[in-house]
Amino acid sequence: MSVGSVDWDDLRAQAVEAMRHAYAPYSRYPVGVAGLVDDGRVVTGCNVENASYGVGLCAECGMVSELHRTGGGRLTHVCCVDARGEALMPCGRCRQLLWEHGGPECQLMTRSGVKRMDEILPDAFGPDDLREGE
Ligand code: THU
Repeated sequence: MSVGSVDWDDLRAQAVEAMRHAYAPYSRYPVGVAGLVDDGRVVTGCNVENASYGVGLCAECGMVSELHRTGGGRLTHVCCVDARGEALMPCGRCRQLLWEHGGPECQLMTRSGVKRMDEILPDAFGPDDLREGE
């Protein structure tokens, strides 16, 4: 699906490729994610679980780490997929991560179309709140 000038098919394909590297022996639920950065880069991530279940890392954690490792910037478009390559809604914690690094205008591919982060995480707490509270 092409919406505007963003190649969502390519973003999804990169998310699927990342998903294939997931380490998910406990849930058997591999996840991949790809994000377009405001300078044109694409960063990706996959989930990495642990025998100590609670310390498993979501795919979005890896993607955000790669975002900073490769030069920083802002996420503008994100596609998260499950094992079938279907769009996956990020968990609550990861919505907060996406908010921090993409903000309200960042767009997310969902099964019901493209949505902005401020639809996915309304009335979000974020960096502005910390500045206001100073
Ligand atoms: N998972 C993600 O990687 N991202 C999400 O947004 C939702 C859940 C992972 C965590 C766990 O490894 C597996 O999916 C099952 O919950």
